[in-house]
Amino acid sequence: MSKRYTITAALPYTNGPIHIGHLAGVYVPADIYARYLRLTGNDVAFICGSDEHGVPITIKAKKEGVTPQDIVDKYHAIIKESFVDFGITFDNYSRTTAKIHHDTAQEFFKTLYDKNEFVEEVTEQLYDAEANQFLADRFVTGTCPKCGNEEAYGDQCENCGSSLNATDLINPKSAITGNVPTLKETKHWFLPLNKHEDFLREWILKGHKKDWKPNVYGQVKSWIDDGLRPRAVTRDLDWGIPVPVEGGEGKVLYVWFDAPIGYISSTKEWAAREGKNWEDYWKDDNTKLVHFIGKDNIVFHCIIFPSMLKAEGSYILPENVPANEFLNLEGKKLSTSKNWAVWLPDYLVDFPNQQDVLRYALTANAPESKDNDFTWKDFQARNNNELVAIFGNFINRVVVLTNKYYDGIIPEPSDFATIDEETLAAVKAYPAVISSSIERYRFREASQELMNLARLGNKYLADEEPWKTIKTDEARTKTVMFVALQIASALAVLSEPFLPFTSTKLKGILNSNDNGWEDILTKDILISANHKISKGELLFSKIEDSEIQKQLDKLEASKKANEAANKVTEPQKEEITFDDFTKLDLRVGTILEAEKMPKTKKLLVLKVDTGIDTRTIVSGIAESFKPEDIIGKRVTVLVNLAPRALRGVESQGMILMTEDEGGNLVFVNPDVDGVNNGLQIS
Ligand code: MF3
Ligand code: ZN
Repeated sequence: MSKRYTITAALPYTNGPIHIGHLAGVYVPADIYARYLRLTGNDVAFICGSDEHGVPITIKAKKEGVTPQDIVDKYHAIIKESFVDFGITFDNYSRTTAKIHHDTAQEFFKTLYDKNEFVEEVTEQLYDAEANQFLADRFVTGTCPKCGNEEAYGDQCENCGSSLNATDLINPKSAITGNVPTLKETKHWFLPLNKHEDFLREWILKGHKKDWKPNVYGQVKSWIDDGLRPRAVTRDLDWGIPVPVEGGEGKVLYVWFDAPIGYISSTKEWAAREGKNWEDYWKDDNTKLVHFIGKDNIVFHCIIFPSMLKAEGSYILPENVPANEFLNLEGKKLSTSKNWAVWLPDYLVDFPNQQDVLRYALTANAPESKDNDFTWKDFQARNNNELVAIFGNFINRVVVLTNKYYDGIIPEPSDFATIDEETLAAVKAYPAVISSSIERYRFREASQELMNLARLGNKYLADEEPWKTIKTDEARTKTVMFVALQIASALAVLSEPFLPFTSTKLKGILNSNDNGWEDILTKDILISANHKISKGELLFSKIEDSEIQKQLDKLEASKKANEAANKVTEPQKEEITFDDFTKLDLRVGTILEAEKMPKTKKLLVLKVDTGIDTRTIVSGIAESFKPEDIIGKRVTVLVNLAPRALRGVESQGMILMTEDEGGNLVFVNPDVDGVNNGLQIS
């Protein structure tokens, strides 16, 4: 029976592009689900948009010396385009800086305000006197009181997922100046979550115990058991949606108050464009609301937003919140700020027309019940051993043989043998199996069932060997090819949610777009005899080691660059006078001899011609230079440094060294490209 669904995918922050963690955790499963529901005849609104308020955006803007609006405009465009290119089929992709959203969020706030659903209170909040700013959310870090993570934020600990108030942090520190904050009074509006505790208990703990994922249910239960407290939904910031009530001047809505309302405003935008009634998708009990999110968003979608919706009174509540765990990359936590990620726009350039490979690799290895690791080797294996060797190979054999034997015209079968009957019956069972997995949000299981159907096809061909029977039994060969083409047709349809680009290609090859999901289950014949298929093209191609190595090198380079960027620069030393400076006697010298100081790691003993004499200098550069490589090198020498004994060798001066951009030790070299660089010594 057809139903109405509102499917939301977490609104991404516009402080960077989308990476594979976002895709695996939220957007790929949500898209599989939405595509599947549309294919099975449901009325679907698949809703998303950019989350453009909040502290990370302000921080990024400050860092780059631009306005927050510049940042969100830039990343909104990048994110939106990359979703389209990747085949994520949102019905609407809006943004929270849109007027319709500001209006909707303010109206929502006003309604709760008028209904007395907020507690208005002057409290002491963390304040950074130097920056002249209150410190909430990501403007403050400190130790999580629940798990001891030292990098918890003012609204949440990403380690244990706890939702926090900034004043809960132990040893808070301003993210702007590094100062220890002081306390200052300010007025805010609080959503009294404690007031909604009974309702939440009833709704989730009793109502959804069985059908929610254990990780989601478990987290929610433990928060409720811990006791819920009022939570401020306004902030003293200037980037955000102005608080629309008296006394709210200079304050904005908390980003986690406004962002989920973005699902509603995005639905309104879509409905207006499509001539639909948005309220059908948010206020009708027959509509199923499903939120796709990552695990760090659970508290907001299972406790705070439902409390807001309940307090407002006219909205439906989510039917399910299938939150995923995290995806790591090559064994390390993905990080936008540390640039440890595979970025979607980069992938689309490096692997053109291979969206389905990434979709498949991320689905087959999705972090559904525990954190998982993405490795480029696994990506390659999923492509080469499954998409190419199983799915692609089966289709290729069917298409090539049909063209070779029958000029592309599907042959008439004769009587089916038992194996044919069994095979066709097995094909018919797949839609229900895959549906059942998808409807339980088990997308990796579903993707493996799809691959099993391709395996079935491969095995059928391998057992029936039409390439042998073609020489001995024409009728049998026709029957076998006919059956194989039925399997190919089923794959064209059932692959659509998972491999949409492949599905389109395959339908093109088969010249057939007639079947729906249900047809695979009910029709005896999916593609008829005498129908002509085309010559076809390869659906997948092998990914070589060199391509994988390129990606690994890219990651390694980004790790190095990040390490260099994060290196602490020593603060400037105490000021010296010009007279102090002129005391230094710097000369250009030449290294005549060099050898390792025995039993040390770092020291080289050098003989240096300084122009005035030849002397011994001990230098701590043995980890960066081999003695034989530096003989003859011209260097800058401080010659009037008081002699000093190092490991019993008297060092009579110092060689000047510095670092290059990569952080490597280099000589302060008097010659650049063989030309005197005019180093002014006195
Ligand atoms: N921007 C948030 C994040 O990336 C998700 C917001 S989801 C919404 O973690 F519900 F607030 F929209
Ligand atoms: Zn914690």
